[in-house]
Amino acid sequence: MASSLHNYVLAILLLAITQFKTTSAGSHHHLQHLKSLHFSLFQHETINKTGYIIVDGIKGGAGVTQTTTPFGTLFAFQDPLTVAANRSSKLVGIAEGTTVTSSLDGLRSISIAKLTLRLKHHKGSLSIVGVTNNVKPSDLPVVGGTEDFMFVQGYISTSPVDLKGLTVVYKIEFHLYWPPYATQAS
Ligand SMILES: *[C@@H]1O[C@H](CO)[C@@H](O)[C@H](O)[C@H]1NC(C)=O
Ligand SMILES: *[C@@H]1O[C@H](CO)[C@@H](O)[C@H](O)[C@H]1NC(C)=O
Repeated sequence: MASSLHNYVLAILLLAITQFKTTSAGSHHHLQHLKSLHFSLFQHETINKTGYIIVDGIKGGAGVTQTTTPFGTLFAFQDPLTVAANRSSKLVGIAEGTTVTSSLDGLRSISIAKLTLRLKHHKGSLSIVGVTNNVKPSDLPVVGGTEDFMFVQGYISTSPVDLKGLTVVYKIEFHLYWPPYATQAS
């Protein structure tokens, strides 16, 4: 009796392992067929020209510097996106959004942005939500898109390139993936 139960459990276990193997092989197979796109752009933000403090943060904390803003500061921006770090390089998009300083040291902000892109083969917008660090690279999830970026998933990696002067420059690396139902629809 005990031995037949043992055999039964063993059989179930083997079946489970076989099925697990099949599913993981299946999803791997899927991944190879996912359409993806990887590229970088540069965001230029000029204080009091393309980016403004709309509501002041708390008093007595971090000050307003090139890299910090007081906790709770509401900031709004509409920045150009170019193909190279040079501001004169080709303009291919804009980044519109808002940030709220979310760390007491003034270095991090909750960011909500819409990036409108006019690339050679892809036009449309991406919506981004996450936390940016003013002095370190940050990854932000892509939460949606429109037109050619409809249903797109993935993330962007934003990192400071030049924080000196009135215009600060960030590099944005895009890592975009189209789920199977998005590529079938288009
Ligand atoms: C931007 O404008 C604000 C409000 O007028 C001013 O206090 C601040 O000094 C300006 N910043 C720069 C860098 O010009
Ligand atoms: C930026 O691009 C312009 C126009 O292409 C060029 O004249 C200028 O030298 C470039 N600046 C830098 C720092 O590369």
